Amino acid sequence: MATANAPAAKPARTKPRVVDQKMLIGGKWVNSASGKTFATTDPTDGSVICNVAEGDKADIDLAVRVAREAFENGPWARMNASERGRLLNKLADAVEEHKEELAALESLDNGKPLNDAMGADLPLSIACYRYYAGWADKIFGQTIPINGPFFTYTRHEPIGVVGQIIPWNFPLLMQAWKWGPALACGNTLVLKPAEQTPLTALRVAQLAQEVGFPDGVINVVPGYGPTAGAALSGHMDVDKIAFTGETGTGKIVMTAAAQSNLKRVSLELGGKSPNIVFADADLDAAVEGAYFGLFFNQGQCCCAGSRLFVQDSVYDAFVAKIVEKAKGRKVGDPFASDTEQGPQVSQEQFDRVLGYIAAGQKDGAKMLTGGGRVGEKGYFVQPTVFGDVKDDMKIAQEEIFGPVMSILRFKDADEVIARGNRTQYGLAAAVWTKDVKKALRLANGLRAGTVWVNCFDVFDAGAPFGGFKMSGIGRELGQYALQLYTEVKTVTMAM
Ligand code: NAI
Ligand code: MG
Repeated sequence: MATANAPAAKPARTKPRVVDQKMLIGGKWVNSASGKTFATTDPTDGSVICNVAEGDKADIDLAVRVAREAFENGPWARMNASERGRLLNKLADAVEEHKEELAALESLDNGKPLNDAMGADLPLSIACYRYYAGWADKIFGQTIPINGPFFTYTRHEPIGVVGQIIPWNFPLLMQAWKWGPALACGNTLVLKPAEQTPLTALRVAQLAQEVGFPDGVINVVPGYGPTAGAALSGHMDVDKIAFTGETGTGKIVMTAAAQSNLKRVSLELGGKSPNIVFADADLDAAVEGAYFGLFFNQGQCCCAGSRLFVQDSVYDAFVAKIVEKAKGRKVGDPFASDTEQGPQVSQEQFDRVLGYIAAGQKDGAKMLTGGGRVGEKGYFVQPTVFGDVKDDMKIAQEEIFGPVMSILRFKDADEVIARGNRTQYGLAAAVWTKDVKKALRLANGLRAGTVWVNCFDVFDAGAPFGGFKMSGIGRELGQYALQLYTEVKTVTMAM
């Protein structure tokens, strides 16, 4: 990122101007080997923000080569673990010092309200770097009393060169979730950001360079999935690939890993999370939680509460309240101080969301509000609520990734556990009730990586996150993520 054009310390409510971007390989900012670039666009009107170097196989090959060199022979390989932690803390400081600038860049590239970037993406990203800074010198194995005259211990070693592919819905945060544990554990990495939102990843990479990460430890190669992404996941010298995105893409990534060198794979994929409201819940809190849990981030959340189950006896009252809230939602300029919802990230996502709205109508769900676009330009979609949704409808089965709420009725706990689990996904779930026994029964019965009780979207760097079933493999965040970035070595010595 050209600092010359970086926005002032507090851009507050103005869109930053951004110059064309190169990629970071081996500590150098370079053009792509092919010389190709791609445009990243502003989702509020489709205009070009800037052009970005477009990586492909040759660039990935080079990045992997320098990452391998840094892993085996660079200062990183000899660095004390506590020093790695210090660097991660310095990166957290640098991101914090530049949080207004980064939030504005994120809003510009992704379309999310600046308020959300400042209130959620930045603090969570900073906290994630700090959390893993603390782990760096606390990663160790065991001594094991095996039979015989032997001394046996385990070492938790870095895996090596790690490839990371992230999506566009939370670019800064997904980068932090991937970089924090990978770097704390001593790996080197090649990141491919999403083609829709490459800008903040490049800026954070520049900050990482400034705080002193050795050359080659961190490499960022922007580009498209089927080219740069495929080259990374199929690379013979990448030891592990971490991916977040669509379930179908996750299968492609895992196949590429299997068909190349059996690199380790962790996946954080889609969801169709049930959000279950019982009649005995604090209904106003449940309305707030359901509203936030679906519409937050333009509905572009892997864990969105996109199947909202409401118990029969409170269904009508609940639906009336939530429809009223949806109608009042302020859609518009992400940089305006009162905006609650910005545009979808791209034309493709906009079309896709409108396609799901059409499918809901065709399948006979009752459209209670919304249903169309907002304005004539950009990718703004009206907050939309469907009632009387049935389990087998497309809008109750597939990930919409937009501001479209599907509400279903249920009678009792057994029924809603069974129906809640009737999906290929298992990322998250939520339950609203004042009955502790019921809450625990649901928390145990729902097949999901996270269950929220009387809350939604509560994230913390210390709490693991990931999916059952086709929502993924492995757990990011918390101590659990260290397993994704270490190999266990058993050493046995004769005494
Ligand atoms: P995607 O899964 O295709 O993209 C995510 C990342 O994977 C991007 O960096 C992309 O360049 C990369 N990628 C794409 N094809 C690849 C390939 N063949 N090999 C390696 N990497 C590849 O998601 P997309 O197309 O942007 O969005 C489609 C749908 O996916 C959304 O509507 C949403 O339902 C879901 N999605 C889910 C996310 C989540 O957090 N679970 C995030 C983004 C999308
Ligand atoms: Mg795709």
